[in-house]
Amino acid sequence: MSVYDQIAEAQASAIGEIEKTGDLDSLKAIEPVLFGKKSALSSLKRLMGEVDAEERADVGQALNQAQQTVREAHAAAKEKFELSSRRAQLESERLDLTESLQTDNRGHLHLVTQTMERLEDVFVGMGFTVSEGPQAETDWYNFEALNLPAAHPARSMFDTLYLDLGERTEIGDGEGGEATNILLRTHTSPVQVRVMESIAPPIYTVCPGRVFRRDTADASHMPVFHQIEGLVVDRGISLSDLAGTLNEFTAAYFGGAISSRLRPSYFPFTEPSAEFDITCVICEGDGCQTCQRTGWIELGGCGMVHPNVLANCGVDSEEWTGFAFGFGIDRLALMRYGIKDLRDMYTNDVRFLRQF
Ligand code: DAH
Repeated sequence: MSVYDQIAEAQASAIGEIEKTGDLDSLKAIEPVLFGKKSALSSLKRLMGEVDAEERADVGQALNQAQQTVREAHAAAKEKFELSSRRAQLESERLDLTESLQTDNRGHLHLVTQTMERLEDVFVGMGFTVSEGPQAETDWYNFEALNLPAAHPARSMFDTLYLDLGERTEIGDGEGGEATNILLRTHTSPVQVRVMESIAPPIYTVCPGRVFRRDTADASHMPVFHQIEGLVVDRGISLSDLAGTLNEFTAAYFGGAISSRLRPSYFPFTEPSAEFDITCVICEGDGCQTCQRTGWIELGGCGMVHPNVLANCGVDSEEWTGFAFGFGIDRLALMRYGIKDLRDMYTNDVRFLRQF
């Protein structure tokens, strides 16, 4: 085989190798074969010594030409691979900033938040303000100030979760610097105390928020749930104002077909106290499984603020009287939408949440 044929063959095989590669890595891997000392073309260079002197220039030129051709093919392949890898990278890092019109993929407020905001709206429409208090409370605000001293039997109504403060088991911010336990509030009623302490009557406010009880989760209980508290303190407030307000609220929130009624009950922070029921929202009073055929469902507790509570908050009960009420928000949403299991609201399965 002539030297020229050998050069042509070495060039063809180098080009063939380049064509076999599919990406930058495989191209890089064959570079020693193409350009290394042991590459076919380099080996041919070593033959130069054996070539006749007069032919040397031609052979040299043919070798250079072949080497140049291989270099160009390599460079072209490299450029092609670099371009496509850059494109792949850009594609993978691409951010689609166009507005999505797939509305069913868009999030929305949780059912409980929606219910809470709707309740606030109704009360704000009736002239109430919205107040908030801390979720970690002192014993004073959650119990004592609400006429529930330490040994009071009614404390057992609340399965309280106490906070472990580590080294410090108590802090001294009870009334008169007394040591106080810290707990997770068991109801929103402590916000009543905080409001009365911080602003002077007349007071018309609602306090929605999260509350905690040592309960095992089941279809109708959760250890964490939500309540809304109402508090009115003004001159000449009577039980009929309470009944009227609850009735107004019921009609505004549920619609005209639903009304409310009061049943005598007991709460330490109100005197007299009542339980308030609303017409069953499922059967509208006809009697069904949800209302145990009574036509009514219990919504919450209420009453005239106990004089001891007013006194504990520095409000003169000779001048001012007031009423308060409190009810569960989660249960309300449950009834309104006919949800069977309270736990469904908190497992955060989007297929469930999306429905509301
Ligand atoms: N705090 C009570 C509870 O969680 C509900 C309640 C009853 C609130 C009577 C009140 C009230 O404001 O007056 O069971």
